[in-house]
Amino acid sequence: MNILVTGGAGFIGSHTLIELYKAGHTALVVDNLYNAKAEALHRVEEILNSQFSTLNSQFSTLNSQFSIPFVQADIRDREALENIFRQNEKIVNGQVVNGFDACIHFAGLKAVGESVAKPLEYYENNMNGTFVLLDVLRRHGCKNIIFSSSATVYGDPNEIPITENCPKGQCTNPYGQTKSMLEQVLTDVQKADNEWNVVLLRYFNPIGAHPSGRIGENPNGIPNNLMPYITQVAVGKREKLGVFGNDYPTHDGTGVRDYIHVVDLARAHVAALQAIERKQGLAVYNIGTGHGYSVLDVVKAFERVNKVPIPYAIMPRRAGDIATCYCNPKKAELELGWKAQFDLDDMCRDSWNWQRNNPNGY
Ligand code: NAD
Ligand code: WQD
Repeated sequence: MNILVTGGAGFIGSHTLIELYKAGHTALVVDNLYNAKAEALHRVEEILNSQFSTLNSQFSTLNSQFSIPFVQADIRDREALENIFRQNEKIVNGQVVNGFDACIHFAGLKAVGESVAKPLEYYENNMNGTFVLLDVLRRHGCKNIIFSSSATVYGDPNEIPITENCPKGQCTNPYGQTKSMLEQVLTDVQKADNEWNVVLLRYFNPIGAHPSGRIGENPNGIPNNLMPYITQVAVGKREKLGVFGNDYPTHDGTGVRDYIHVVDLARAHVAALQAIERKQGLAVYNIGTGHGYSVLDVVKAFERVNKVPIPYAIMPRRAGDIATCYCNPKKAELELGWKAQFDLDDMCRDSWNWQRNNPNGY
């Protein structure tokens, strides 16, 4: 399939490009580089070039270096999206047809704390960006979309492990609200026109990096999320980790989450294309491992696997955090044949491999 990948230069998008190409798909990336660097795409190309011999025959011309088509544009820019569609039309039986089989929609702002401080910017970017994108997709007859949703839509879940039948909950921040509202928008769009195939992937906590150490998570400023903070302590950029609360009702009092290796998550997108090929209409999947690890479990695993000490101090709880969040990922396994392959040790090893080889990111 030829896939339009919005936000493809970002953390999850860049890893997904590798898995798409390895599975024989092609992609065009549209990203405004607000939270990414073009270098990430160069590194994706480098990784794919080095794996050339195992790639699909369309790329196996000896010595040829392929590049991933990339347009630096904002998805709120309708004219830019229209141009991308116009320039990628193809002729089939003498007819001009749309050149994209599906869209994987990663583009969005994602920092929870920042979204509380800048709600308008978050609503405007994430909601309007998706509205413009959906309208252009529809106009060009590309009615297949995989949307990056989040475990955050469950709020404080009333059942653990969380299944897709668990009702959505109250999101505590504007970022989470945009995910929840966009799920509803996409659901309504599909309901109104059953030519649409919509896959909502609810990611749990993506960490790790490509095992090559060439691409990974590259947060700006002080990391909000646990693993990037740990790796920055490990590399000496931060003195110690603050552990946000040790009085939760969990096995050691610290918050429990379902961490998933970003390469497994990337592969879930390739698997989700099957739901589109089968014309499943609307489909919702939890994408996690089904295992819950506490903050201190992650710290200990990181220290053991990488043999690097992570000093930490117990701090007050962080506003909006919940005690425990992990999923039942069986639906994705049953319907898509997708199951996470990497464990917490792999995630710790690959996160550190990326950070120590790229102490200042890209
Ligand atoms: P990321 O910030 O690394 O990637 C998002 C990309 O979108 C960036 O490259 C950014 O430059 C681009 N972008 C943002 N707004 C844009 C716009 N208006 N037009 C064009 N490009 C735009 O984030 P990520 O971690 O790779 O997340 C990808 C998606 O998955 C996001 O939608 C995010 O909300 C969602 N998600 C992420 C996590 C996580 O923990 N990383 C968890 C659940 C869901
Ligand atoms: C994990 C655990 C913290 C940092 C967030 C978003 C969610 C999704 C994934 C996008 C918690 C603790 C963290 C630190 C700590 N993103 N922690 N010290 O909050 O589960 O999920 O990212 O969709 O929407 O909310 O992930 O990595 O921030 O925190 O003790 O410096 O680590 O309290 O228990 P979270 P996280």
